[in-house]
Amino acid sequence: MQIEFVGSGPIEGAPLCAVAVLVFEGGDLSAAAEALDQQMNGAISRVLAGRFKGAKGQSAELLAPAGLHASLVLLVGVGARDGFDDQAAENAGAEAYKAVNASGATLLELRFTDITNAQAARAALGVRLASYRFDKYLTREKPEKKPSVHKAQVLAADPQAALLAFDPLAAVADAVAFTRDLVSEPPNILYPEEFAKRVKALEALGLEVEVLDEEQMRALGMGCLLGVSQGSARPGRLAILQWKGAPDPDAQPIAFVGKGVCFDSGGISLKPADGMEDMKWDMGGAGAVAGLMHALAGRKAKVNAVGILGLVENMPDGNAQRPGDIVTSMSGQTVEVINTDAEGRLVLADALWYCQERFKPKFMVDLATLTGAIIVALGHDYAGLFSNNDELADALFAAGQAEGENLWRMPLPAKYEKQLESPAADLKNIGGRPGGSITAALFIQKFVNGLPWAHLDIASTAWKKPSTSPTVPEGASGFGVRLLNRLVADKYEG
Ligand code: BES
Ligand code: MN
Ligand code: ZN
Repeated sequence: MQIEFVGSGPIEGAPLCAVAVLVFEGGDLSAAAEALDQQMNGAISRVLAGRFKGAKGQSAELLAPAGLHASLVLLVGVGARDGFDDQAAENAGAEAYKAVNASGATLLELRFTDITNAQAARAALGVRLASYRFDKYLTREKPEKKPSVHKAQVLAADPQAALLAFDPLAAVADAVAFTRDLVSEPPNILYPEEFAKRVKALEALGLEVEVLDEEQMRALGMGCLLGVSQGSARPGRLAILQWKGAPDPDAQPIAFVGKGVCFDSGGISLKPADGMEDMKWDMGGAGAVAGLMHALAGRKAKVNAVGILGLVENMPDGNAQRPGDIVTSMSGQTVEVINTDAEGRLVLADALWYCQERFKPKFMVDLATLTGAIIVALGHDYAGLFSNNDELADALFAAGQAEGENLWRMPLPAKYEKQLESPAADLKNIGGRPGGSITAALFIQKFVNGLPWAHLDIASTAWKKPSTSPTVPEGASGFGVRLLNRLVADKYEG
């Protein structure tokens, strides 16, 4: 999708052009809508006599009369004028794209007036995010099924200023697309080595990327992660990404750790067949961390950040880990594996311990599609937030609000730790069914060595079906990239 900011329209007047204007609640026309209404002899006012009144999420399409440069006119409802904010601008851009993307129009003109230059940039971001599509394996798709819009011209009072504001947002949009691609790829294509290869390629953006193989992880004592990996024909990897953007490259970093289970069959505790294909996106946490690092490098963030990805496949071959096995983690704590399907926490245990030991970061945030129970608790519009640090938790919560990636804080009650006691080892890897997301988080907490830490259980938000937001098409959401990028931008730069 090509984006251009223009000072006044129409610039190109392509024959197949859709022009979108804003209408506020109660039929309150934006200046551009007003002007267009006059050009169209009151056609827009006549629409307002019907049910379209400019409510948020509502839109109406008009055929453009002869003499207009466009073929379609789209009225985008955005709710009350005084409630219009950056997120409303972003959603309006996304809604406009969605409304016309299959019309045949090749050019979308966002003639959004009555908004700031920064909001024009957010509208452009909305178009970019909404136009994401994973179609590389659709070899027989008819041209008329493909999106028609290839370019968006975005009106801004000061196009230079809008472009300047868009620059870092474009870096975020690229990063979100990178994550969505990783998460969408089928598991025969994206396995640990391939994932590592794709993040290694991010060195072109200025990241430092190291990849550890199983032998190196064995030498470090990562028995928990390797126990998960041992049932797969495809070897695991640990990817370590570093972005050194702070004035002092040796200043203490912040750290992000992702669960990267490229396919989770459950292992010997095999999952049921129904829906098992969903477990290709069990690497959504690692995907988000990789996307965050992409975003930080893409916009040259003034921060030192580390991203660690635990990349494995959870498979049930003859060498697979058994229920009853006892493994020794890098921390030295032993774990009795009761259920091999509770593998994410085992991967994170070693990845987190490695992270704190090597980097001594200010804090660690892990992201993981960790439990089905978080979906039961929160539905698909919130990810679970667990933290041992109120300041970090509050900052994450606020960042999520600002970006439309919502979190909900969950408790970490010490008394539930009883559920993780094993007669044979220091810990067992599951508790009971009640509070399953909480005992999973409590397990992980045993491996953060007291550092400020937060855990985001994104099993509820990594994949959207159906879509619940105009900027997130059905499928891989890229959840976490924007949220963490915002956390860094608002709290840890400069
Ligand atoms: N990857 C799953 C969690 C999951 C479930 C992610 C549904 C996305 C959608 C995780 O590894 C898992 O299998 N968790 C088990 C834990 C149980 C064995 C304690 C679960 O949630 O059932
Ligand atoms: Mn599992
Ligand atoms: Zn899993």
